[in-house]
This record gives sequence, C-alpha cells and structure tokens, in this order.
Amino acid sequence: MKKPDTLISQEDIEARVNELAAQISADYADKGELVLIGVLKGAFIFLADLSRRLTIPRHIEFIAVSSYQHGSVPSGAVRLVMDVRASIEGRHVLIIEDIVDTGHTLHYLMDMLKSRNPASIKTCVLLHKEHMTEVDVDIDYLGFTIGDEWVVGYGLDYAEKDRTLPYIGIIEPDD
Ligand code: IMP
Ligand code: MG
Repeated sequence: MKKPDTLISQEDIEARVNELAAQISADYADKGELVLIGVLKGAFIFLADLSRRLTIPRHIEFIAVSSYQHGSVPSGAVRLVMDVRASIEGRHVLIIEDIVDTGHTLHYLMDMLKSRNPASIKTCVLLHKEHMTEVDVDIDYLGFTIGDEWVVGYGLDYAEKDRTLPYIGIIEPDD
C-alpha cells in the first residue's frame, strides 16, 4: 500500500511544537501548575511531545469525546465518552487538540469545562482546517492552518489507520 504523501514533515512539526512550548512556557511562567487536557485519541502524540518541551509545572489529563454520525457525516452533536479525573476548579487549563475541522468538538469541550470554573481555559490545536469551520472557537495556540483534505499521522487516523506515522500525510480517497 502506498504511503500517504507528506503535507507537514517530521522536522517541521518538531520545530513548530518547540515554538509552541516556548510560547506557552513564557505565557504561563509564575502562574503555578498548568493542567493540560489532551483530547483522545488524536492528541496523544502532540500532547506527549508538547508537554515534554514545557519548562513550567504541568499536570496531565485526558478526555474523550465522540461525534454523533448521520451515516458517515458528523451531525455536529458531541458526546462525552471519558471525563478527566481531576477537578479543574480554580486551575489554569489548556485543552490540547489534534485538529479543528467544523469546530463542534472544541466548542462542546470549552462550554463543558468552562462551567467547572477553572481560573482560565485556553486551547492549543495542532491543525486547523480554516475553511471548514461551522462554529467559531478561539484557538489560542495553533500549529498549522491546512486545507480541507483528510490528514493522518502524528496521532491522527483514518479509520484507525496511520495514527503513528511520524509526519502529517494526506490520504487519497480510494486508498
Ligand atoms: P470537529 O468537531 O469537526 O472540529 O472535528 C474535530 C475532530 O474530527 C478531530 O478531533 C478529529 O478527531 C476529527 N478529524 C477532523 N478532520 C480530521 C482529519 O483530517 N484527520 C483525522 N481526524 C480528523
Ligand atoms: Mg480529536
């Protein structure tokens, strides 16, 4: 089977993750511990790399959601599958997400987590499909803006395939 074509190389991802980590470390210096909430499954590699580059105290949590489907088309409704373990009340929170497509997932998570009264809540997203947005969400830290192609690798999958590819690749529809 053909390997997906490279959209963003391993080197470019690493360089951008380093920049994001430096920016986040500077922004949260002297604010105490930062709670990083990784959105499963797609963000697990991004979170692993980013969190190890931070120079500030951090606490790792995971959350899992799933999108309701109408056949193969996401309906926009999001359901919580696994919650975080820790209380986030009064704490600084950063949601770590692999990709924002329509925006529904991140919008749902922001709403839900804001209602728990964190000291602050921001978002860090590796990829943004700029033209696909249906719901506006604030992305405070962004890796790369991409087109509307389906991408895999660095945590992202196509039907569980290619999640551990070291670069971001583009899937051809008939693969
Ligand atoms: P949204 O709710 O439409 O913003 O979708 C976000 C979720 O859809 C992401 O967290 C991914 O799990 C998934 N997703 C959207 N586009 C892609 C893609 O190109 N590759 C892999 N997963 C994607
Ligand atoms: Mg995701």
